[in-house]
Amino acid sequence: MKLRVLIVLVSCVLSVITGLVLARGGSATEKSEDDTVVIGLSLDTLKEARWQTDRDLFVKRAGELGAKVLVQSANSDDARQVSDVEKLITNQVDVLVVVPHDGTAMAKAVRMAHDAGVPVIAYDRIIRDSDLDLYVSFDNVRVGRMQAQYLVDHLPTPGKGRIIRIYGSKTDNNAKLFKQGQDEVLEPYIKRGDIEVIFEDWAEDWKQENAKKIVNAAITKYQDNFDAILASNDGTAGGAIQALLEEGYAGKKLVTGQDAELVACQRIVQGTQSMTIYKPLKTLATKGAELAVKLAKGQPVVATQTVNNGKIDVPAALNDVITVTRENIDKTVIADGFHSREDVYRGTAAK
Ligand code: BGC
Repeated sequence: MKLRVLIVLVSCVLSVITGLVLARGGSATEKSEDDTVVIGLSLDTLKEARWQTDRDLFVKRAGELGAKVLVQSANSDDARQVSDVEKLITNQVDVLVVVPHDGTAMAKAVRMAHDAGVPVIAYDRIIRDSDLDLYVSFDNVRVGRMQAQYLVDHLPTPGKGRIIRIYGSKTDNNAKLFKQGQDEVLEPYIKRGDIEVIFEDWAEDWKQENAKKIVNAAITKYQDNFDAILASNDGTAGGAIQALLEEGYAGKKLVTGQDAELVACQRIVQGTQSMTIYKPLKTLATKGAELAVKLAKGQPVVATQTVNNGKIDVPAALNDVITVTRENIDKTVIADGFHSREDVYRGTAAK
């Protein structure tokens, strides 16, 4: 019998089932209750610390539910990620969970999986122009808005200043969403001439060294004649701060981030990074694993939102995020057990 994937989309606003039922045909057979579910997890990279946490939490929750996870990481290489997915399909996974390196290129993976009757969940980053079954992530436009709002409010003269912008990887749809949210907040200030973007660029593959090069180039041109760096994540913030350190400017310029990586939290309490965005990965990974198991078993999945991926409105579960600063770090990432207090304040005199 063909694997049936049933996705019920519930509109939470209207509290009615608007209904979206997808049937995924193919060679896969329906699971009986005692069959072990096998999940294929294809990651873009394990470079940023967050993805190792995502993987560990996902595998743990899947294990608790009696499922097995086969993990592949593509090292930011599209061809490798396609072959990873091929491998996972050959290994007869029941469901595929993908963090795409290139959100457009991975539409191919969705087609391949569907041809084999395997449903696909995009994890954290959406897969564009495809018949994706489900998307689990955070509100990424909101992340961008929160970064920019923090920057605007905390410039030496609030609402006014000269800034450097570092975007993420052009191949990552999230990088565009972060920029979109930032643009929404900054636009009126830029239009009035109150905020001037003196330098901006995309950091290829979100690499720290690329972010550092962007800030090095900005410093060569403007020396310390700027107020803040709107870095899109903690990795790029790390590269930016490295460039500032070399010039003796670290701690004197506002720098944003995202992911609440341990090193970024340490920089926040030490005063070289101003803020980060905490995205509770436990919620994402736990939900992701639970939904994957449900899809694999052909059980109904309830999604309260949709996100258009250029082709369809994909049923989605988007989680909330929190701005983290020196003032609230104890009450947020530490209270939540994301990092221990000891780790965050290690090497810091002011505890
Ligand atoms: C994620 C960020 C991460 C970045 C680099 C984005 O898609 O949402 O959390 O820092 O990729 O890996």
